[in-house]
Amino acid sequence: MTEPLDSPLAGKHIVLGVTGSIAAYKSADLVRRLRDAGAELRVVMTKSACEFITPLTLQTLSGHPVAIDLLDADQESAMGHITLARWADWILVAPASADVIARLAQGRTDDLLSALCLASESPLALAPAMNNKMWSNPATQDNLTVLRSRGVQIIGPASGDQACGEQGEGRLVEPLNIVVAMERYVVPKRLLGKKVLITAGPTYEAIDPVRFIGNRSSGKMGFAIAQAAVEAGAEVTLIAGPVHLTTPTGVKRVDVETAQAMFEQVSSAVAESDIFISCAAVADYRPCQTETKKIKKIANSELELKLEPTIDIVAAVAKQQLKPFIVGFAAETQDVTEYAQEKLQRKNLDMIAANQVGNGLGFAVDTNTLSVFWHNGSQELPIAVKTQLARDLMMLIIEQYNAKNSIKTA
Ligand code: PMT
Repeated sequence: MTEPLDSPLAGKHIVLGVTGSIAAYKSADLVRRLRDAGAELRVVMTKSACEFITPLTLQTLSGHPVAIDLLDADQESAMGHITLARWADWILVAPASADVIARLAQGRTDDLLSALCLASESPLALAPAMNNKMWSNPATQDNLTVLRSRGVQIIGPASGDQACGEQGEGRLVEPLNIVVAMERYVVPKRLLGKKVLITAGPTYEAIDPVRFIGNRSSGKMGFAIAQAAVEAGAEVTLIAGPVHLTTPTGVKRVDVETAQAMFEQVSSAVAESDIFISCAAVADYRPCQTETKKIKKIANSELELKLEPTIDIVAAVAKQQLKPFIVGFAAETQDVTEYAQEKLQRKNLDMIAANQVGNGLGFAVDTNTLSVFWHNGSQELPIAVKTQLARDLMMLIIEQYNAKNSIKTA
């Protein structure tokens, strides 16, 4: 899950349906986490859900009355099922019992939640929770096939110990991971069917078996871009230098250490990529020679290290005849705009995202500011956490990528 209010769920209207399952107690945590992410929530419970957790609990946590009855005049006059159906940006049913899955597959309207789902044109996500035999039963699986074919998103289930004492698939996915899944769904899938290749982090160039030339890149910016690209529906390959970060879900990660290894991995993936984003802080120089044994200190004597240039990965990709849409980065301590525009031209890129670095800016910190340039335009992306900044950058990239391709195909 991303930081509170940095989530794509911020401001989204979500109807949370809670159905009869022992896992219903987890919906209290889910309500809290969805609200932490900034979502606007309304909770609808089935009668059997009320046997497992009280409406008062979910009312208190969500800050709004919980709707239960389809035929309750008071509830209908407050926010009737049709109004609720129109209000929702998303409907999430968690936990979704085998019963509600069957009823939704059949389009039944025998309670408020199922009527609401049928009356709504909003997308629907279900997080199933049930005994593992009920889950694997062909009846449930057939119902899920029907629902999936209608575009319903199914989150999980997880497997492990079950409340009934059995083991297997059917546990409700943890609330935090349900929120992460929802964050993915709410972002428009403008990169569906596209492949995006991203580099991130530093490279280490060995001096001897224990020393290297490196830099302060943490990989945070590049990993945030990988997450934003997956959220936008892309198939993402992330070539990462040595960093200590968790791979965003759905991203294919390849770890490398040196500029040369990064170049080789980029070369093997780039031909099938639609967009290449070079966010890595690749070493510009490496030792001409890597000693096989640790260099010994010689008292009162200087040590000279001879360096040679590494290959410029992004420039090499840009020289290819068949090349993807290429986005470079520029890390500058001064004259950011001039240097960035010079790099855009010299390296023959489609876009460049420039950031001021040094003195606690750019490298390793959680926030950043970018000045983005392309051949006939530019945009400032003001300071934001890197996860949000990456989404804003991805929007600009998609716009320019589409603009370039519409010119090509016109
Ligand atoms: O990782 P973080 O801690 O989150 O920090 C993010 C960042 C500051 C590293 C990132 O935002 C950034 O600026 N990345 C690019 C750093 C860099 O190497 O900039 P540069 O101006 O030296 O290089 C220009 C471009 O050439 C970059 O796209 C770079 O990836 C590419 N390059 C550079 C050298 C080389 N041998 N091969 C390359 O492909």
